[in-house]
Amino acid sequence: MTGLFITFEGPDGAGKTTQVQTFAKCLADMGYDVLVTREPGGTAISDKIRGLILDPSHTEMDDCTEALLYAASRAQHVREKVLPALAQGKVVVCDRFVDASIAYQGFGLGLPVHRIKEINHFATGGLVPDRTYLLDIPVAIGRSRLAARAGLDRIEQKESGYHERVRDGFMDIASENPSRICLIDANRSMEEVSAAILSDFSQWAASRK
Ligand code: TMP
Repeated sequence: MTGLFITFEGPDGAGKTTQVQTFAKCLADMGYDVLVTREPGGTAISDKIRGLILDPSHTEMDDCTEALLYAASRAQHVREKVLPALAQGKVVVCDRFVDASIAYQGFGLGLPVHRIKEINHFATGGLVPDRTYLLDIPVAIGRSRLAARAGLDRIEQKESGYHERVRDGFMDIASENPSRICLIDANRSMEEVSAAILSDFSQWAASRK
């Protein structure tokens, strides 16, 4: 039995983490066996790598090191947690996955996108999500939402030009993968956003039967 792999993506401040929780709860209420997880992180080793990557004091971190650390965290997470859960027939709902590396390290930092795809293919063994919700928000609005929160991490602290490139990158990825990625306008109330996601999921799941 194989489960379903659903990922959530989007620029910082899009409200992704709240939407992941709401979506997972709705699925559980519908009777699905759900596992919620996130990247970078999701396992003890991957969480340690997350700490290394996001530590604001690591200003000297090389872009290439950063890309490889995200991929290393992902390799452990996929093999230790995601694949076993999918093999048990669970719905795995994951806060970020490979698209984030393409958008942030590829488009944001300017590393070659084909290399980012290559290292992540190696890290994941070619695992691709069944459905991805891309929560889009204008950079200025996302950043003003973050500003209300204490303590930005190393990535969130980068200048807004970087975050504009990341957002453009996500749009590019969405247009390259129209059958997998569902673009959601996240610049509205939490309730409206979760209703849009659930409505898409119900239609998409029904179309697979
Ligand atoms: P989070 O805010 O979704 O927990 O992610 C932490 C930061 O890491 C966020 O700014 C996005 C960034 N990130 C990447 O740059 N590349 C990646 O592959 C992933 C998974 C996250």
